Amino acid sequence: MDVVRTLLLCVLALLVNLYGLHGQTSPNISLGSSITAGSNASWLSPSADYAFGFYRVFGGRLYLAGIWFDKIPAKTLVWTANRDSPAEAGSTVQLTDDGHLILTYTNGTVQQIYSGATVAASFGLMQDDGNFVLRDTNSALVWQSFGSPTDTILPEQALANGQTLYSNSKGTIDYSTGDFRLEMQSDGKLVLSAYRFADPGYWLTDTQGENRSLVFNHSGFMYIVNSSNVYSLTENIPTPVEDYYHRATINDHGTFEQFVHHKNGGNWTRVWRSFDDPCIANSVCGIYGMCTSPDNETVTCNCIPGHTPLDPDNVSKGCHPETVMNYCLENSGGNYTVEVVEDADFPSDLTADLARVEHVDVEGCKKAIMDDCYSLAASLVDSTCRKKRTPLLNARKSASTKGMKALIKVPIKTSNPDIRKLTRKKKFNSRAFLEIGSIISAILAFLLGVAAIYYNPAAQRFIKRKYFLTGNTIGINFREFTFQELQEATNGFNKALGRGSSGKVYKGILVLKDTQIEIAVKKLEKDIEKSREEFMTELKIIGRTHHKNLVRLLGFCIENNQHLLVYEFMSNGTLSDFLFNKVESPGWVQRVDMALGMARGLLYLHDECHTQIIHCDIKPENVLLDRNYTAKISDFGLSKLLNKDQTRTNTNLRGTAGYIAPEWLRNVPVTTKVDVYSFGVMLLEIICGRRHIELNRVEEESEEDDLFLPDWVVSCVISGKLEMVVSHDPEVLSDFERFERMAMVGLWCINPDPILRPSMNKVVQMLEGTLEVEIAPLLHDQNVK
Ligand SMILES: *[C@@H]1O[C@H](CO)[C@@H](O)[C@H](O)[C@H]1NC(C)=O
Ligand SMILES: *[C@@H]1O[C@H](CO)[C@@H](O)[C@H](O)[C@H]1NC(C)=O
Ligand SMILES: *[C@@H]1O[C@H](CO)[C@@H](O)[C@H](O)[C@H]1NC(C)=O
Ligand SMILES: *[C@@H]1O[C@H](CO)[C@@H](O)[C@H](O)[C@H]1NC(C)=O
Ligand SMILES: *[C@@H]1O[C@H](CO)[C@@H](O)[C@H](O)[C@H]1NC(C)=O
Ligand SMILES: *[C@@H]1O[C@H](CO)[C@@H](O)[C@H](O)[C@H]1NC(C)=O
Ligand SMILES: *[C@@H]1O[C@H](CO)[C@@H](O)[C@H](O)[C@H]1NC(C)=O
Ligand SMILES: *[C@@H]1O[C@H](CO)[C@@H](O)[C@H](O)[C@H]1NC(C)=O
Ligand SMILES: *[C@@H]1O[C@H](CO)[C@@H](O)[C@H](O)[C@H]1NC(C)=O
Ligand SMILES: *[C@@H]1O[C@H](CO)[C@@H](O)[C@H](O)[C@H]1NC(C)=O
Repeated sequence: MDVVRTLLLCVLALLVNLYGLHGQTSPNISLGSSITAGSNASWLSPSADYAFGFYRVFGGRLYLAGIWFDKIPAKTLVWTANRDSPAEAGSTVQLTDDGHLILTYTNGTVQQIYSGATVAASFGLMQDDGNFVLRDTNSALVWQSFGSPTDTILPEQALANGQTLYSNSKGTIDYSTGDFRLEMQSDGKLVLSAYRFADPGYWLTDTQGENRSLVFNHSGFMYIVNSSNVYSLTENIPTPVEDYYHRATINDHGTFEQFVHHKNGGNWTRVWRSFDDPCIANSVCGIYGMCTSPDNETVTCNCIPGHTPLDPDNVSKGCHPETVMNYCLENSGGNYTVEVVEDADFPSDLTADLARVEHVDVEGCKKAIMDDCYSLAASLVDSTCRKKRTPLLNARKSASTKGMKALIKVPIKTSNPDIRKLTRKKKFNSRAFLEIGSIISAILAFLLGVAAIYYNPAAQRFIKRKYFLTGNTIGINFREFTFQELQEATNGFNKALGRGSSGKVYKGILVLKDTQIEIAVKKLEKDIEKSREEFMTELKIIGRTHHKNLVRLLGFCIENNQHLLVYEFMSNGTLSDFLFNKVESPGWVQRVDMALGMARGLLYLHDECHTQIIHCDIKPENVLLDRNYTAKISDFGLSKLLNKDQTRTNTNLRGTAGYIAPEWLRNVPVTTKVDVYSFGVMLLEIICGRRHIELNRVEEESEEDDLFLPDWVVSCVISGKLEMVVSHDPEVLSDFERFERMAMVGLWCINPDPILRPSMNKVVQMLEGTLEVEIAPLLHDQNVK
């Protein structure tokens, strides 16, 4: 009897143990539980449909902490905490005793999945709907994986106002962040965009109104809804719905798709997609690439004629011109041909179109670009020829471009020394200026690069083209407006938005076809030699940049001694107004995002452009906020370009008091570190929510509350009372660790010795949390005043 009982107990214990290996007897994950990468253990949902654990990637060499469909052979991943930094075997995810959920890498780096800063979790649960949740002692929800989606949403999950999905990287098997984004915008539209290109979007719903979200309901239907109104996406779903798994994912080519999978086998079947022709997604094939899709399913990338791949192993990364030719020199006419690609198009785009010629055939369109040495390509749709500026993006040849024509100038290969061969090995020496002597219009000529169009520094190395700008030539890489056009657009310059370093800025509206585009027009002060210089600097610099966190220039106008610059309009004004002139104090998370955005913009100027650019006047007045409160650096009028082999420059004092690095005053050559200093001051302002100098501060407070913000922050750090700086702001106090980290970065940036200041690269990594913040070399004798 006893023996049998013992045996039974043993078997039972064994069973429990076996079960315990794969899941837990109770679905509740208790504090102290952990999973190790490589062990095959996971936390299962009660139905065992979903598992939370380490997902093998790169053939099992690395792991992602995430959630997947566990019962189907594909084990499709639906969420991950570390898509951009896969972990090695031996890394752990732990629900700590004090209620955080952390991912610890083998090198000791800790990533907080849930920081537990506000409320500690008391248990976790992998739910049957695919949501991993953490709850507090009262069982109230404190964190959920549904709240921070990656590339997929599941039934009962919503994409709320402002939330985004990011595609996985193109053409790779990993799950790192790719080039496309699906965003539920605050204006009520669901938008797909190639966000790295400042793309306004290639697919959007015609929904509008505030506070809408994308809902994926329990029965597998997706729709966009506000409190009253429903806009359906999904059309039909196989029934009964309970027999299927569902997911909606943005794929690596930028299409948003919904799939079903029968629970008893089979595979994922698509039931809906945002559009059929995959080439509609912008920049699928990168710059100078052409997307081909004969069947609405496969995507093939090629280069447009006369171009070769940046990476021969991966054409989808984009292309560069085989030879660089200056079409604006005399006699260039016989040295190139115009190739016509049938059934192909460069889609119409305000910022890519130089001009439109109506009622022409192929020959007329050819002539139009041959007569315009600044135009390198055109599209011909029906009888409208649209001349294109560089870079040439979004070329496509697919079901939706039947009957259209793409025209491209292609140099004839000769041994002509004027036509320079671009080879991958040889780096181009970019000279910022090239003087051209011209007797009649001896005004100005530039060598303008369009290299800096893309985030991807690999792309930047290869593309280089000459542009010439004179006072009376149409040109460079932007649209030229007439003064009259701008006068009309701004209603006679009657609404001033503010003033930049060299002129007033006015609001305007451009009417193009049937759309209206809001613009900001900077009118430079007349007859001032200096302001013309700033105009040229700005054109030159902004003309070679293209980044989400830099303001975008649409065109310019030079007429009758008037110099005007036309920008995209930034509806939320300056960062300065946002931070300091508001009744309500702006949200912490938003401020953190802005700081990071600006840091990325500056990093781009310093390290990722073809030529290093020092902005020289970083301050909250020169940062603008778009509709989504994305921070964009503006006003490049004082900037300096450095040649590739140059790291410092001698220049006169420029910038704004309070943000100026001390080396300016010492009259030594300046480097990009002057921007780091200004950024540091601004960062402290952003996180503390106050100006670096409080002008009307009340006397009695000033005991501990120093007048100069950086000094005050330093003294608070030294006395171990940093909380005092933000004692008025409970939101910041609840995320104090982050505040502290950012404050340290800010202090480090304002080190009086430029050599000790971090590079923007380091700053970005520290702000992102991917690099530990070392103790800032902060110093009692800091002489920052
Ligand atoms: C999980 O934990 C919560 C809170 O302790 C409790 O209310 C719930 O009953 C537990 N569920 C199971 C299945 O143990
Ligand atoms: C985990 O599973 C894989 C594949 O099923 C197997 O090859 C490996 O040996 C398992 N590892 C452990 C530690 O059980
Ligand atoms: C630790 O490893 C992770 C993942 O490989 C990496 O992202 C992180 O930078 C590493 N940290 C350090 C301090 O090396
Ligand atoms: C937006 O919608 C959410 C949920 O539908 C609601 O909780 C919130 O109060 C709404 N916000 C506004 C500003 O209407
Ligand atoms: C989901 O949405 C569809 C279409 O709007 C509707 O017919 C269905 O009843 C909804 N299901 C649930 C569970 O709300
Ligand atoms: C919901 O959307 C409809 C249609 O776009 C709009 O008329 C209505 O005002 C919106 N409701 C709310 C509460 O935003
Ligand atoms: C996936 O399912 C579809 C339809 O059920 C079938 O036609 C197709 O062959 C399946 N593909 C694979 C790889 O099993
Ligand atoms: C591709 O999609 C377009 C747009 O939906 C459609 O008109 C065309 O017939 C499709 N072509 C193929 C080959 O499926
Ligand atoms: C693109 O490159 C990745 C690795 O960087 C490779 O895995 C993939 O197969 C390449 N894609 C193509 C289409 O060659
Ligand atoms: C065009 O080719 C001719 C003859 O090969 C040469 O003389 C001329 O300089 C070339 N022009 C340009 C702009 O390359």
